[in-house]
Amino acid sequence: MESAFPIEELVVNSLTRFEQEILIKYLIAKKLDFERFLSKFYSQIEVSSLLFEKHTKSLDIWELVKHFERAVDDKFKKLKGTFYTPYFIVNYINTRVISENLNRDIRVIDPACGCGAFLIDTLLKLKQKFQKKSYKELVEENIFGIDIDPSAVRRAKILLALVVFENEGEIPEKFNIYNGNSLDKDFLKRTLNDLKFSAVVGNPPYVRIQNLDEETRTIMRKYWKFTSGDTDIFIPFIELGIELLSENGQLGYITPNSYFTTHAGKSLRKFLQLNKYIEEIVDFGHYQVFEGITTYSAITVISKKPKSYFILKKVKDERDLKNLNDIEGEKVYFKDLNPEKWILVSNKEKEIISIIENSYYRLKDIADIRVGLATLADKVYILENPEEEGKYFIQYFRGQKFLIEKEITKEIIKVSILKSEKDILENKRRIIFPYKKVNGRYVIISEEELKKNFPETYKYLLFCKDILLKRV
Ligand SMILES: C[S@@+](CC[C@H](N)C(=O)[O-])C[C@H]1O[C@@H](n2cnc3c(N)ncnc32)[C@H](O)[C@@H]1O
Repeated sequence: MESAFPIEELVVNSLTRFEQEILIKYLIAKKLDFERFLSKFYSQIEVSSLLFEKHTKSLDIWELVKHFERAVDDKFKKLKGTFYTPYFIVNYINTRVISENLNRDIRVIDPACGCGAFLIDTLLKLKQKFQKKSYKELVEENIFGIDIDPSAVRRAKILLALVVFENEGEIPEKFNIYNGNSLDKDFLKRTLNDLKFSAVVGNPPYVRIQNLDEETRTIMRKYWKFTSGDTDIFIPFIELGIELLSENGQLGYITPNSYFTTHAGKSLRKFLQLNKYIEEIVDFGHYQVFEGITTYSAITVISKKPKSYFILKKVKDERDLKNLNDIEGEKVYFKDLNPEKWILVSNKEKEIISIIENSYYRLKDIADIRVGLATLADKVYILENPEEEGKYFIQYFRGQKFLIEKEITKEIIKVSILKSEKDILENKRRIIFPYKKVNGRYVIISEEELKKNFPETYKYLLFCKDILLKRV
């Protein structure tokens, strides 16, 4: 049988053994002709007889998506800012953005689609609305995605194909899911040909500029406007989303909410405010949306339609988290926002803040508030609970043991992990602090002095030179 895909696009080994098994389990449990499906993807099918055992528990498509997402290499995830969106967020964004833009030619894109969670949900939602269009047609004509990770792209294609196959016994002849860097305008032009979209959805990557590779940094600064200072890759992704959006389209992203207030978010804030692009913000405050990572997130819905205000919804307790639709929103007028910082609070909270501000001292009037330490290479500089050896602390790095002169270290406390006073008392963490006080100010110790007075630390830092050089 002729393969529907160029072999280089869907290589036999593109899925791990584990993923293949999960996929086959799914197909068997759903009583689907797995040989037919897989023959489109693999030139050779090797199915372990174990898989024919009766499967009492069948998977649903979302469990399969989760299995695929978990299989992405952790190292890659960190580098590319990959973590996957819980279904209640996908559902909220898609419902909000897609159902208001319905017409047969709707084009939906996720420019950082990962394994395709947003796109699979889009497919299911579009099919509900357009009974007459087949799943296959919807995949071929209405659904678009891009990801920099080729294996995620393959997984997204397979999952979309699976939904089509399960419902119609057919496999799409083409996909609009592309592998590449969405921020690279040359690549975008080649692939999308200036297409505009009725809906842009997703959870773009979040990676601080200093943790990005040189190529992505250059691309960011070359093509995107709001990338000055200590920026993050999700910021140009917002700009990209707006650029991809048609005049009547809507964008729905979940991103860090830091852009409301940070210096790096200022030019984006000004732009959004000036153009009155925001339609709705759902701010999760300190409630955590993603498993296993701490990020303060918000959903932002954007459109180019004229408006004077947007709706602000604030998640205030655990129950709100899963019932985003039921949260009562408040109007925030663009004219009332200060582009220096968007303090997005309800009117009642605003009143309270103003009373406090006008009646008491501010913390800054009585205390010296500083930004904490930013080494940009914590794993090099921080000694976690180090053992001692005479006048040295011991640091293990990349499997090697190093000595660090005690006098060049200081005690350090990570506020982000402090829970109680006890943690302060028990803290054993140290930091290499290569500075000395001159005329009341800290200045960095010269290389010569470091070599002479702290030879062991010098040796260690030389060993870490490659990591240190990558800092901006
Ligand atoms: C936070 S994950 C979200 C994936 C998917 N939207 C979801 O919610 O399940 C971000 C994705 O962006 C991809 N990515 C990172 N940098 C990218 C870039 N410059 N262009 C395209 N995709 C990128 C990563 O590979 C990852 O799959």
